[in-house]
Amino acid sequence: MTELKASANLDELASLCKRRGFIFQSSEIYGGLASTWDYGPLGVELKRNIKESWWRRFVWERDDMVGLDAAILMHPDAWRASGHVEAFHDPLVECRNCHQRFRADHLAGPKCLSCCATDSFTEARQFNLMLKTFLGPVEDSASIAYLRPETAQGIFVNFENVQTTTRRKLPFGIAQLGKAFRNEITTGNFIFRTREFEMMEIEYFVRPGEDEECHKRWLDDCMGWYTGLGIRKENLRIRQHDPKELAHYAKATYDIEYRFPWGWGEIQGIANRTDFDLKAHATKSGKALAYFDEEKKEHVVPYVIEPSAGVDRAVMAFLLDAYAEEEAPTADGKTEKRVVLRLHPALAPVKVAVLPLSRNERLAPLAREVFAKVRSSGAVDGFVQYDDAQSIGRRYRRQDEVGTPLCVTVDFESLDDRAVTIRERDSMKQDRVPIERLPEELAKRLKRA
Ligand code: ATP
Ligand code: GLY
Repeated sequence: MTELKASANLDELASLCKRRGFIFQSSEIYGGLASTWDYGPLGVELKRNIKESWWRRFVWERDDMVGLDAAILMHPDAWRASGHVEAFHDPLVECRNCHQRFRADHLAGPKCLSCCATDSFTEARQFNLMLKTFLGPVEDSASIAYLRPETAQGIFVNFENVQTTTRRKLPFGIAQLGKAFRNEITTGNFIFRTREFEMMEIEYFVRPGEDEECHKRWLDDCMGWYTGLGIRKENLRIRQHDPKELAHYAKATYDIEYRFPWGWGEIQGIANRTDFDLKAHATKSGKALAYFDEEKKEHVVPYVIEPSAGVDRAVMAFLLDAYAEEEAPTADGKTEKRVVLRLHPALAPVKVAVLPLSRNERLAPLAREVFAKVRSSGAVDGFVQYDDAQSIGRRYRRQDEVGTPLCVTVDFESLDDRAVTIRERDSMKQDRVPIERLPEELAKRLKRA
């Protein structure tokens, strides 16, 4: 096989996502809502697999982590204490000529990106990114609530609850997955910057003084998660924030960036938040938020290392990195172009596709039996698909294009020998195995791949 292309541009990616049911524009039948996206049948599987793989790696496989699922809506005082009401801003400028608004720190020069006027921008003003809503029937300032712009604060306000119910010793961490909202001034680049998105966050509590060492370890662990799931090292880099960029709570931050089609872009931030948040909530709420060290008989306010990743940006990076175009051999000895998503099997939205060689009615009962066996065996941890539409060659291409690691083909010989063919996505290698042993063979291959 000759590789023709090792990644996709944004248009190719968005088109594949739409065509194959990964990602649709939100409210499309009404003309869409700008920069808002819905995950389709394959997108939701991919996203679930990413989140599950993250949870597995950072909660289940470790002995120093627990999880939490806090509400999106929080007491407004939480956002006053955290500094978000006061300081969660981006600098906004407006073009006096066309009235388009831009994030000042995203502009390369004095020229308006919309109408090309020069030196037409207003002075920058600070624009708060929190989305507001009202709770209850009265829309007044007393009923304002914010949609959380990060999941982190749900963890900080529950520090004491988690600590007393789990009796963890420092260092330990709390992980949370969930939606967050930011009223971004400019959105775009497909699902890269949206106003509603999903985060995978960890607040890792350490003794002050051990924070810097721990920060480095988290950088390695987080990088290892992306590369372990197949992202090429050369497409990732770590960039340290310069002091001007640091969030109001951070002492130091490193971003993991991916080489997107338009350049490097952040997929995860790993910040040292010090004791800023626990102290701020303790002051505002009047409740002590500290760790009691039994040996030293003293209270410690832990420092916090915070790995904070975006699920949607991870979806995008995994898809881009997996995308390839190849010249592949066909059954009749020719070659043809195939698009293949070389997704890690743990992430692939369809793990196994069961394909009768043709729609012949003699094949259907056995193919259906194999399909049921694979689904119910427990050997395949994920979505299994049955596909009998169009020629077998086209169905293989279709499965390649959505990243299905294994196809199982039921042919006329199968009726006699009760064996089927397993075809591997990347090598296109085919192997015949007895139906009886199929679940274990699939499990073995999905693990090994
Ligand atoms: P950027 O500089 O790109 O605006 P950020 O520094 O504001 O990002 P963080 O506040 O560090 O981002 O958020 C943590 C993670 O949440 C990011 O690494 C990213 O993956 C994700 N994220 C943040 N904002 C958005 C958004 N508007 N759309 C999608 N994902 C986002
Ligand atoms: N919780 C990290 C961030 O929102 O930047």
